[in-house]
Amino acid sequence: MENKKIIAVIGATGAQGSGLVHAILNDKNGEFAVRAITRNANSDKARELAKKGAEVVEADVDDKESIKKAFAGAYGAYCVTFFWDHFSPAKENQQARNMAEAAAEAGVKHVIWSTLEDTRKWIPVDDDRMPTLQEKYKVPHFDAKGESNAYFENCGVPYTLLHTSFYWENFIYFGLGPQKGADGKLAITFPMRDKKLPGIASADIGKSAYAIFKAGKEFQGKSVYIAGEHLTGAQMADSFSRALGTEVVYNDVPASVYRSFGFPGADDMGNMFQFKADCEEYYCGIRDISAVKKLNPELLNFDTWLEQNKSMIKV
Ligand SMILES: NC(=O)c1ccc[n+]([C@@H]2O[C@H](COP(=O)([O-])OP(=O)(O)OC[C@H]3O[C@@H](n4cnc5c(N)ncnc54)[C@H](OP(=O)(O)O)[C@@H]3O)[C@@H](O)[C@H]2O)c1
Repeated sequence: MENKKIIAVIGATGAQGSGLVHAILNDKNGEFAVRAITRNANSDKARELAKKGAEVVEADVDDKESIKKAFAGAYGAYCVTFFWDHFSPAKENQQARNMAEAAAEAGVKHVIWSTLEDTRKWIPVDDDRMPTLQEKYKVPHFDAKGESNAYFENCGVPYTLLHTSFYWENFIYFGLGPQKGADGKLAITFPMRDKKLPGIASADIGKSAYAIFKAGKEFQGKSVYIAGEHLTGAQMADSFSRALGTEVVYNDVPASVYRSFGFPGADDMGNMFQFKADCEEYYCGIRDISAVKKLNPELLNFDTWLEQNKSMIKV
């Protein structure tokens, strides 16, 4: 145990981080041990991770010195930010910068940055297909992550930029699951037209990250793009119907209507779906499922994920 290389995981009690923590803990004979980073080592989730064998350390991504201490002596660091806690691209930039600098100053050997595309490379700010948000972004929670890649590329630590995709857990925890419409029919609603949405089980993000650490130099200095399956809204609705044993339809709405739904971040999400629909060829093309399966042979597709999680979907 003492000789194992430590991987320090930001967001260890959350969706992405806990997937990685469990991937490491489940590989009992592997060469890595895990350090779970949390703001509160006494929370139920943190205690649960300690009970399973993780070293639990407190730090906050807003406090670089705390992150530097939490990264000390670690071989690897998994870095993720929490956009939906604050909706601020500037804050996300600063947190990414804190983690990249902390990784360098702590002497980490491999850092993974959980990122997404800066959509402005495809849809520039002056493109009026969709509104510009927060003055200079098209999809703030994407663009700020993509913009922050530079901190990792320039920090001097071997890095991998891990481009994730839509978690299917959004159907459980993010209010995107099937809901009854005025016609009484259960529907999933988003503005993807007939285009495919790459999705993934959040645990597979952690498993893929673990495979990247285990591969050593292979993915250092590179971008990796992951998804579990690419499906249209209609295909997802069919899967829901089969899994839940009741009809679920896909309700395609214009992106402008989605943006006006009024929940916090609806404009950001509306632009995000529109970007994915308008740039389907790029966005699906680069998330090559066969390559992801090679990286993570346990990769779930949507039907398998639904089979495992359907009891959590309240209709
Ligand atoms: N939902 C999606 O489909 C999707 C897809 C791709 C990317 N993303 C991105 O994923 C990110 C969120 O990751 P996630 O889903 O894994 O998060 P999550 O499940 O919300 O968990 C985040 C965890 O991080 C910890 N945390 C929060 N603020 C922190 C801080 N200031 N310092 C240190 N730790 C902090 C919290 O743990 P403690 O309370 O224990 O500290 C929390 O359990 C977002 O930026 C989002 O844009 C989401």
